Amino acid sequence: MIPVIISGTVVTALRRANRVVVVTGAGISAESGIPTFRGAEGLWRNFKAEDLATPAAFARNPRLVWEWYDWRRNLCGKAQPNPAHHVVAAMERFYHHFLLVTQNVDGLHSRAGSRRMVEVHGSLWRARCLKCGDTVELPMTSFEDGKAVVGRVSSRVARCLEEENPARSPGLQPLPTHAACGGTLRPAVLWFGESYEPAMLQQVFTALEEAQVVLIIGTSGGVALPVDLAAQARQAGATIVEINRERTAVSRLAHERLEGRAGEILPELWRRVQVGHLTDEIRARGRHKGGRLMIGIAGPPGAGKSTLAQALKAVLGREAVVVPMDGFHFPNARLDALGLRARKGAPETFDRLAFELAVAELRATQKPVSLPLYSRELHEPVADALTVPLATSFVIVEGNYLFLWPEVRNALDLKIYLDCDPALARASVIARHQQGGASEEEAVRKFETNDRLNSETVHATRGAAEIMIRRNAAGWTVERVGGT
Ligand code: APR
Repeated sequence: MIPVIISGTVVTALRRANRVVVVTGAGISAESGIPTFRGAEGLWRNFKAEDLATPAAFARNPRLVWEWYDWRRNLCGKAQPNPAHHVVAAMERFYHHFLLVTQNVDGLHSRAGSRRMVEVHGSLWRARCLKCGDTVELPMTSFEDGKAVVGRVSSRVARCLEEENPARSPGLQPLPTHAACGGTLRPAVLWFGESYEPAMLQQVFTALEEAQVVLIIGTSGGVALPVDLAAQARQAGATIVEINRERTAVSRLAHERLEGRAGEILPELWRRVQVGHLTDEIRARGRHKGGRLMIGIAGPPGAGKSTLAQALKAVLGREAVVVPMDGFHFPNARLDALGLRARKGAPETFDRLAFELAVAELRATQKPVSLPLYSRELHEPVADALTVPLATSFVIVEGNYLFLWPEVRNALDLKIYLDCDPALARASVIARHQQGGASEEEAVRKFETNDRLNSETVHATRGAAEIMIRRNAAGWTVERVGGT
């Protein structure tokens, strides 16, 4: 994977914005395996648009056109949204004013969770009745007798299209008809020579007038719309950012261009925006508190707590130190001095006692604090303890059920919960066990045992969070910044 180069300007623009418009084209679905239209492997290189995507083509040979759309529906139905689609859906949840304008008809944005969306070219998954004008949803399959059978037609489509002899398309099922009125159905897709819906365009142009940032992703500008949208938005003062593998008709209007694959650029761009947003919040709380800010990151095993902690430290720099939860180990002498030896046999784990002590010490003192770290693998204290120097403004601690213990919860100034998509957490934990040498079967058993032990405490912890971060296929998104 080529390292993604993203300018700070784009990250800053997205961190400061609260009104964002995203315009997408076929390129955002390329990494889901769906061919684009132009370029080396483009659909219009292998098929003739005028035979397949015009009103005249449908009038001339409606069956062929339906077979073409069946073939594409079959292809798109098997494809999965890629990380770029998930980031666009995460942006919709994050920005108060957001609109997705997509030229794509493949349905992947809605399958990734996008809702505030305008499909300016319609959708493969809808059909329109030529008689009454109603639009009907199409199932994830293709047609036979007006009902749906999955794309058996695709081989016929390929053959008759290759022979480019529509008249030869074999005897096919009757055309799909509208159950309500018996009218003939056509794909609810905008064809060449047809006009955009005025109301839809009005919604798009209104959103562009107010947008602070417009991302234009994976479109060649082969049809004029994205170029017109970029020109209008730029005129209205928005920052135009193009994400594409090559220069296009849009490029001259872009303030910034991020060159590469959308599926790689968007997750990295979004991670940097979210970590930046979080560190803004942390610094603001640090100023408000005027001393050492104790930050806790909790979440289920495999959620990515340590990765998030390290990402925050990378931005906060030398002012921050990360203290791993299960790294603590206090010798008995220290416990005796604090009158806690008796609790050592208590049901809670030894980590818990050590953790309480460490957080309490780090919180209470503004002097350097040494923490004897404990290696779980070696089952003994690690020689060089972690020393938290006086100048440390931000102490980041992380653990599965960190906020469960009152002594720790009350000592933390900021509680962040990493709410992870369960499938992602499970995959991370199993992979980690396997990296440690466990077989897949052992790794799964370890995960399931640990997960059972953790589940109720993790959810109890979740309730104490002030900042909720959702981790899914888009990476991290700050879902809620609560409390003062
Ligand atoms: N990441 C980002 N961009 C990509 C990627 C990728 N992984 N792969 C390809 N691209 C870019 C190409 O460089 C190209 O600029 O996506 C763009 C795809 O351009 P087109 O194939 O022309 O598709 P699009 O711009 O969406 O076409 C617009 O034309 O034929 C009509 O109705 C059709 O909606 C379509 C419209």
